[in-house]
Amino acid sequence: MQSAESLLEVSPVVPVVVLEDADHAVPLARALLAGGIGVIELTLRTPAALEGVRRIAAEVPGIHLGVGTVVGAADVERAAAAGARFLVSPGTTPAIVRAAADAGLPLLPGVSTVSEALLALEMGLRELKFFPAQQAGGAAFLSALRSPLPQLRFCPTGGITPGNARDYLSLSNVGCVGGSWITPPELLRAGDFARVEQLARAAVALG
Ligand code: 3PG
Repeated sequence: MQSAESLLEVSPVVPVVVLEDADHAVPLARALLAGGIGVIELTLRTPAALEGVRRIAAEVPGIHLGVGTVVGAADVERAAAAGARFLVSPGTTPAIVRAAADAGLPLLPGVSTVSEALLALEMGLRELKFFPAQQAGGAAFLSALRSPLPQLRFCPTGGITPGNARDYLSLSNVGCVGGSWITPPELLRAGDFARVEQLARAAVALG
């Protein structure tokens, strides 16, 4: 099984997807792969999300399929049953950490303060999401953590754009960034997966 540690190395940019229509899931995942991105975080923010996870798991096995916006143990179970290969949570709680371990799935849990990072470390987690990155201190915050907490590595998300992604990716404690700009809802609605593929290719070039 892939650990959260190697998850940070799959792609410099992890697309964070809000799926409105389960029919978009498979062409979207294929467009990301065609653009050179081998990972997707499908968020549990819409009724279509779990069906989208099921379809990608069945039809696009080549993409490393994550489920995001996991906010409780029940979400862990639903995501695991649908075919998730890793989990992403906006925060870090003992219940979510335990449920992910029980499900045997790597978890990338969110932190936004030093004390939260220390609590995650106490729970044995060294690979963390930094969320909401831009609002919680940006690249300068993560840069300041390198000296006191060199054992931690991060995937910042929240407010990351092609314009600021390199500020994060150039830090030694950042493995990848996450963002929704590669899969804008209007492109998915329009069925413009060719443009998604272009955006994916441009995102890979940021790394
Ligand atoms: C997340 O959950 O990681 C964020 O919603 C992504 O943030 P963005 O939409 O600002 O990229």
